Amino acid sequence: MLNKQHYPFSLPDLEYPYNSLEPIISEMTMKLHHDKHLKAYIDKLNDILKDYPEFHGWTLEKILSNLYTFPENIRINVRNNAGGVLNHIIYFNIINPNKVGKEPINITKAIINKYSNMNRFLTEFKIKSNQMFGSGYVFLVINKNNELDLISTPNQNSVYELNLYPLFLIDLWEHAYYLDYNNRRDEYINNFIKIINMEKLEERYLKYFDY
Ligand SMILES: [Fe+2]
Repeated sequence: MLNKQHYPFSLPDLEYPYNSLEPIISEMTMKLHHDKHLKAYIDKLNDILKDYPEFHGWTLEKILSNLYTFPENIRINVRNNAGGVLNHIIYFNIINPNKVGKEPINITKAIINKYSNMNRFLTEFKIKSNQMFGSGYVFLVINKNNELDLISTPNQNSVYELNLYPLFLIDLWEHAYYLDYNNRRDEYINNFIKIINMEKLEERYLKYFDY
């Protein structure tokens, strides 16, 4: 799901029960992460944009692809909070435990083309995720040459700023894992790969190429 909302943004429902990712991610973490953290980014973004009607028709993708158009006094806050909203929407979408009925043939082929095999891809993803210092994300993206790439960004920065299309991401902020894993971030990363919904990934991949 890509979020086509514009101002005023509202909290999308989680499309599956809060406890459905247990034991990898607990119900408590999901509730806090979705209902409190994502909600806070939405509220802050609406508050920042309320006095700027010229941006009220803009989607999150458009905002993040055109940050330079925002007045300097709000630009960093727009970046942090619009990024915070869209990154989380992608995160909750890609760990959706529901089947969507699309065999992940095309994304699997693209991963094998780039990384030789799935294990090598996952190994590179885990290495990059473990290298993250502080809070941020590791994204699987489609780059300007229509190839896959792994990109890390600090804070809530979005890859839309870099003209890259996000296929999936891992949230490496402590709020994503600390209740369940404490300081064992490597264990969270190892478990996260088990809950990536490959069918959702295929859906996002096909949407990019508009098959
Ligand atoms: Fe988060």
